[in-house]
Parts: sequence; C-alpha cells; structure tokens
Amino acid sequence: MRNQALQEFLDAAKLAYSFRARDLNSVSLVERVFATLEAPAPQSTSDSGRLPVCQYLTDIAESSASDESDLRQVMKTFLRIEPLLRWRRRQGDWSGASEGFAEKHANAMIVGPGGLEPREDIGLGVSLLGPNVRYPDHRHPPEETYLVMSAGDFRQGQLDWVHLAGGETFYNPHNIVHAMRSSDLPLLAFWALKE
Ligand SMILES: [Fe+2]
Repeated sequence: MRNQALQEFLDAAKLAYSFRARDLNSVSLVERVFATLEAPAPQSTSDSGRLPVCQYLTDIAESSASDESDLRQVMKTFLRIEPLLRWRRRQGDWSGASEGFAEKHANAMIVGPGGLEPREDIGLGVSLLGPNVRYPDHRHPPEETYLVMSAGDFRQGQLDWVHLAGGETFYNPHNIVHAMRSSDLPLLAFWALKE
C-alpha cells in the first residue's frame, strides 16, 4: 500500500530521529510520530514540482555526505522520493523573513496534509533555505522536532539563536513562536509534527 521508496525513507528517518532526539519531549514526540506511521494511509496521486531554490539540493547532498551512516541513509532515501514531492512556498505570515524570501525557500510535506501520503494525524516534511535566508517567525499547535541535515541556526521567541550542526535535533513545544536561518550555505531540515 505504501510506496516502497517512501517506506525506506521513513525507516531511515525513524532510525536517525530516534538516535538523535535528545530531550525527553523530543524522544516522546518521535516515538508517537513513528508509531502512528506504522499504519500506512492511501498514497497521493497529485502532481510533484520543484521551486527555484531546489537547485541547492545537489550541493546539500554532496556537502552532507557525512561519516554518520544513519544520516547518509536519510539523505540517500530522501533523494529518491524528492522528485515525487510537491515543493511549495510557505503559506501565510512571512513576518521576520529575510529579503527575497519568496525565491529562496521551499517546503514539502512528505507525510501529512498535501504530502505523498496525505493524512491529518501527523506531519513529516522538509524545509530548504538558500544561503543567508531567515525563515519567518511562525507557530502551530502541534509539537515539532527538527532534524537538521546541514548546519543552521534555530530559535524560539526572542531567545538567542542556537547553532545546530548537521545531525542535531531541535524541539519546539506546541504553539511556541520559532524560526530558523541558514548561514553562507543552504539549509535542509526535516520536521516531525504531532498534536
Ligand atoms: Fe515549525
């Protein structure tokens, strides 16, 4: 029922997320997300499509070729499903975004509303930022754990930015205002959401 390439990506993501979740909230969220994902839902037949910023995917794939086998597997399996994804610009409020944000970012839902496996009970997706891009401040009811594939900065509210290296995770409690930004290099980060 589930596309095999998607299943392989989800297996790789589960392994990396479970290994790399640090705080107890992240651990609990990751367990709930991947337990929910054990039951597949019908696959989407909607169109895929890239945005201009997707040109950076090749660079990211090369630069994130880390020594860590779990991350390599996430990237390898992600690149197989990436052509099936429908990349989109962020919907809604762009407050705090850097100049030219429209052309310098893209999001894709993998499993969740509008994703390859559309469903309402979880969200697992990906954000791509070109170099030197600040993503808008935003908030949402579900809790969230990011898994960062290339280095970037993350923050909550007006707190200091926290620098994360590739392979690190970042937990956002429900409804907290949060943002991310890239450095001189593009940023690719997965996010897992569940109410
Ligand atoms: Fe978020």
